[in-house]
Amino acid sequence: MITHEEKLNLLNTAVEASKNSYCPYSNFRVGAAVLTKAGNIYKGGNIENVSYGATVCAERVAIWKAISEGEKEFTAIAVIGPGTSESYPCAMCRQVMVEYGLDWLVISGDAEGNYLGEMTIRELVPYPFVPSILLGDNK
Ligand code: THU
Repeated sequence: MITHEEKLNLLNTAVEASKNSYCPYSNFRVGAAVLTKAGNIYKGGNIENVSYGATVCAERVAIWKAISEGEKEFTAIAVIGPGTSESYPCAMCRQVMVEYGLDWLVISGDAEGNYLGEMTIRELVPYPFVPSILLGDNK
């Protein structure tokens, strides 16, 4: 469960994270903040690379920071992009999110952290390639 206040706090943390985004090539500043079931928040901005292909999105930076600290159960991730439109994760980030369950939330906001909507991972990835397919729970 996550309250509306917690959602706004997560969006504000994503805005903070976007300030350290390294995006000299696209100038497209993204921020993300993930709330773990243990109650901790990890944030990240997108990190670009001159090779382009080595670029990592804000969502994966935030999630991998959490994973590398031993967390893998998530309640929600807030994502904000530049401007006033809502931002939802790219397909590669959605697949990374699927790895950690389908019933957690992506909260979308604008560059100022205003709440613009939310969806579960299940809604964002309707026919997911899930760990149980390889781990055998479905065999
Ligand atoms: N980007 C993100 O950080 N998250 C997304 O969900 C979409 C794209 C970044 C990657 C790249 O640095 C820039 O935005 C333009 O694609």
